[in-house]
Amino acid sequence: MTIKRLDHIAIVVGNLDAALGVYRDALALPLDHVETIPEQNVKIGTLPVGDSETGNNTVCIELLEPTDPNSGIGRYLAQRGEGLHHICVEVDDIAAALADLKAKGVKLIDETPRRGAHGKIAFVHPKGAHGVLVELVQRD
Ligand code: CO
Repeated sequence: MTIKRLDHIAIVVGNLDAALGVYRDALALPLDHVETIPEQNVKIGTLPVGDSETGNNTVCIELLEPTDPNSGIGRYLAQRGEGLHHICVEVDDIAAALADLKAKGVKLIDETPRRGAHGKIAFVHPKGAHGVLVELVQRD
């Protein structure tokens, strides 16, 4: 498998507007966009961290506000509080990457890719990655 780049770092927050007060206003990161993804029960604020403000090929911080307290991410926030939720790395071939990780005995959440907002995604279990949830993305 080949990892191309760090894609984004996702932080779960209780209130996106309050978090933007820190990440956009105090840290002065540009806010590229805010989107609600009903299937994932989140409202996401995307802030590029890099030399481009397009958000397209730039590493981003994603602030995730759960929109449903009973969703997986809503329960995560309730149980563990705000903080790092996952890191995401971009791969060129996600099916090959998953097969490779499985062959190496890494514990996966998704054995087959699912549809994400910007491409195919899959998650490696935090127990397989020393406590950090790792997302793989193959961008469209
Ligand atoms: Co993500």
